This record gives sequence, structure tokens and C-alpha cells, in this order.
Amino acid sequence: MSQRLKLEVKALNAIAGEDLVILVSDRLSPPKAAEDWIGSGAHALIARAAAAERFKGKALSGLTLLAPEDAGYERLILVGTGPESERGKLDFAALGGAIAGRLGHGRSADVIAALPEGDLSAGEVAEIGLGLRLRSYAFDRYKTKSRDKDRSEPKIVTLRVDDPAAVKKALKAREAIAGGVELARDLVNEPPNVLFPEEFAERAGKLDKLGVEVEILDEKDLKKIGMRALLGVGQGSHRESRVVVMRWNGGAKGDKPVAFVGKGVTFDTGGISIKPAGGMEDMKGDMAGAACVTGLMQALAARKAKVNAVGVIGLVENMPDGKAQRPGDIVTSLSGQTIEIINTDAEGRLVLADVLWYTQERFKPVFMVNLATLTGAILVALAQENAGLFSNNDELSERLFAAGKATGETVWRMPLSPAYDKMIDSKFADMKNSAGRHGGSITAAQFLQRHVNDTPWAHLDIAGTGMGSPNSETNRSWGSGWGVRLLDRLVADHYES
Ligand code: BES
Ligand code: MN
Ligand code: ZN
Repeated sequence: MSQRLKLEVKALNAIAGEDLVILVSDRLSPPKAAEDWIGSGAHALIARAAAAERFKGKALSGLTLLAPEDAGYERLILVGTGPESERGKLDFAALGGAIAGRLGHGRSADVIAALPEGDLSAGEVAEIGLGLRLRSYAFDRYKTKSRDKDRSEPKIVTLRVDDPAAVKKALKAREAIAGGVELARDLVNEPPNVLFPEEFAERAGKLDKLGVEVEILDEKDLKKIGMRALLGVGQGSHRESRVVVMRWNGGAKGDKPVAFVGKGVTFDTGGISIKPAGGMEDMKGDMAGAACVTGLMQALAARKAKVNAVGVIGLVENMPDGKAQRPGDIVTSLSGQTIEIINTDAEGRLVLADVLWYTQERFKPVFMVNLATLTGAILVALAQENAGLFSNNDELSERLFAAGKATGETVWRMPLSPAYDKMIDSKFADMKNSAGRHGGSITAAQFLQRHVNDTPWAHLDIAGTGMGSPNSETNRSWGSGWGVRLLDRLVADHYES
């Protein structure tokens, strides 16, 4: 994607940009560090403009002024940090996003990275940098008109700090994470005629440049392995199915890996149980789980995470066709269990059943986390605020919950139990792939759990968070890249040696 942000970190010994950004609390006084640079008329100007605009320095709010005449810049941009008493709650990535939102395309800006009441740590400034970058992302590959081109001119931003070396170091890991989020967003945003299973696999293959070992399994391989549940979903498509295994070996040799598994339905028509036409175009995003896993593997490799990690993604296209799977079909999954197909639109669980079982048997991981745009029902339950979390392990759940709080990619735990499990018993096979509308997200999760033994496992239903997200300070993209930051944080906080 076109790089829409040029980010630099420099000492505060000059300002060179067209715009100057300063942070102000509810008291509206500029940070000490800014005093030498804002110009003599700035205080009076800020007071008058703030009163006129009812700007109160609320966290993440902003106000743009013309610079005082004697100043060495053109516009003064104030971004609020709220009351000092709420400093602990300030989300610095969101603050970076709020700053980026006030900057012009093709313009240069200096950001004085200091709070009104004192300095910021290198980590906090790096979070601002992450937010600047995430907010600056836009998917414009298919925009050909010049008006749109202007909007893709980069914003040139210099973070002005006390200790550039420390900030640059902290920023490095954040840039790796941002790159992973951007890759995930690109994959989700790509149209389904461009991004089909083979093409997705090829893009994942490019991670080898970062030292990720990538294995691409084609249909011949998958048949041999016995992934019949996954292949059944793809059999109505002219595009071949793929499974991609990505391995990052940054930990100690012989250490068990952590594992991430993603649903990658590059387009979900529903198959023979076809979906209604309205909004079907959104089903190009039905691979957001796989996109997240790919973005995460890129992020871990790019920041050289000290962990052994595997990412496994199941890539299929779900189409109606003369050869497509039917309701009533019975397939045998890799686990040896039989599945009666009730609804060909409940396809994600069929893909994951095989990929989860495969990952667990082959890698014996420390844990498995899978991500999937699995059910519309999770939107009914949680809207787009939280991903649904289903797990057989309390510790893993609590760690995911905490990582969610820390990154803003929040999860909410949902129940699993034998009573729900019973709902997917089938008259003709070991289980059925759909149990109707009631508890739709839960019965889908129970289905997945039947393909996991005692490996600590968590399933994140991201149908609400992975695509079409409401605007936030750090995201304006349809494909949100949700989960990359969450899982990177999970790994960083608990699984790196
Ligand atoms: N990919 C869909 C779920 C989905 C819905 C994702 C909306 C994103 C936004 C999934 O494959 C699906 O079709 N699920 C069905 C399951 C049902 C047939 C049991 C659903 O949610 O209706
Ligand atoms: Mn479906
Ligand atoms: Zn689907």
C-alpha cells in the first residue's frame, strides 16, 4: 500500500514543519517544551480561539489555529489530553490517531511529544507513533481519480523528543506491529476476484523474506492428509483451496510453539444455502481471521520476537455450483469424526475443524488461538465492541482479556457447556454443522471444541470486529486488522523468553 505517513524522530532543537502540534490538558497551557517554539502571541491566541470554539482540552479533541504572525510555522494544532487526574487512562495510540486526523495530506508537521505536565516515556511516544501510522492507513489501490490521489499524499511528521535514540528503539517494535496490522487490513480489503486462496497463499509466502518458514499445502496435499471437511467447502469453487503453515522460530530450539489458526474464506456466498444478495459483497472479508494470523506472523518476525510461533490458515472459496457440497452431505473430518452438513453457509467451522486438528496433532502447541468471522450471531450478542471469546482454559482467557484491555482490541467471554454441545448432535452422523439460530455463536464454538482435545484453546469470533468497524482514532479502514495488536501483546506479555 502507498505509504501515507513519513515518520521521523528528532531532538527538539528546531522546528521545520508547516504545522506545529502541541498537547494541552484541560487547563489549555502548552507544555514547557513548546514554549520556545510556539511564538510570543500564541498564549493569547489559544485563549481566544479556545473560548470561541468551546475547546476545553478534552482528551483526543483538537483545535486548529493559524500561527501567530511571528512564528516559524503556519498552523498551530492543539490536541487535548484531558484532566491531569485522568492521565493513567490516556490511550497514547489513540492520541497519535487523533493527531494524524488533524494533519493535512502532503504537509509537514512537528509534534512536540511532551505532556503539559511533563515528559513522556519513550514507550508512550512510540505508542503515539503507532497511532499516527495506523490512522494514516487507507486502502486506495483501486482509486484512479486525481482527487483521491491527493488524499494519498503522505503526511510528513517529525516527533520532537528529548531522547531520540530511546524513542527510535521503542518505535521499532511498534513499526513491526503496524506493518502487521497494515498487511491484515490490505488482505481484508482486497476484492475477492483478486484475493482468492492461491493468491492469499502467495502473499503469505512473501513472509519468508523476514525469516518465516512458509509451507503451502495444495489440494493434492490436503487430500492426502485427509482434510475432507475443508475440501468439501471449497469443492464448488473453480479456485483451488490451500492451507498455509507459517513458522517463526525466534525462541529456544525445541521449545513448544504457540499456535494461531485462521479462517480464510476468501468469499462466502453461503454455497447452495446461498446468502441473500444485500450486503453479500462484505463476505470478501470472511478471511479476516486468516489475515490477522498472517499479519501477526509478519509482526512477530519483523520485531524478532523471542518465541516459537506457528500460524496456520485454511483458505477456501465457498461457491454454489454443480459440484458444490449439498445440505444432507456427510463428510469425515481429519479427526475421523463425521459431520452432517445441514447448512452449507456454516462453512467456517468445517474449515477450522480440520486446521485446528492438524495444528494440534502436528505441533503440540502450548496453546492454540483461532480467529474467525464465524457467525452473524456474535454481532447480535456483542455488536462490534468486543470479539466473542470461547475457551477451554481460564488462564488463557484471562490473558487474552488483559491484552484486550491493554490494546483496545477487547474480548468478552462467552459460555461453553455440555448442554450447548448436545445441540449439535446429528441424527445421521457424529455431529451436524448447524443447530439453528438460538445460541448460534455458542453452538459454532462447541463444534470447534469437538476438534480440540486438551490443548489450551481459545476461539475468537471476529465477525463483528474484523470488518466494517465503526471509525476509531486508530482505524478508518473497512478491514480493521483486528487481533494483530491483541495477539502480539499476548505473546509479548507471557510467552517470550
Ligand atoms: N461468514 C459468515 C458469518 C458472518 C456474518 C461474518 C456476518 C461476518 C459478518 C458465516 O460463514 C456464516 O454464514 N454463518 C452463518 C451460520 C449459520 C448458517 C448457522 C450465520 O451466521 O448466519
Ligand atoms: Mn457462511
Ligand atoms: Zn463464512
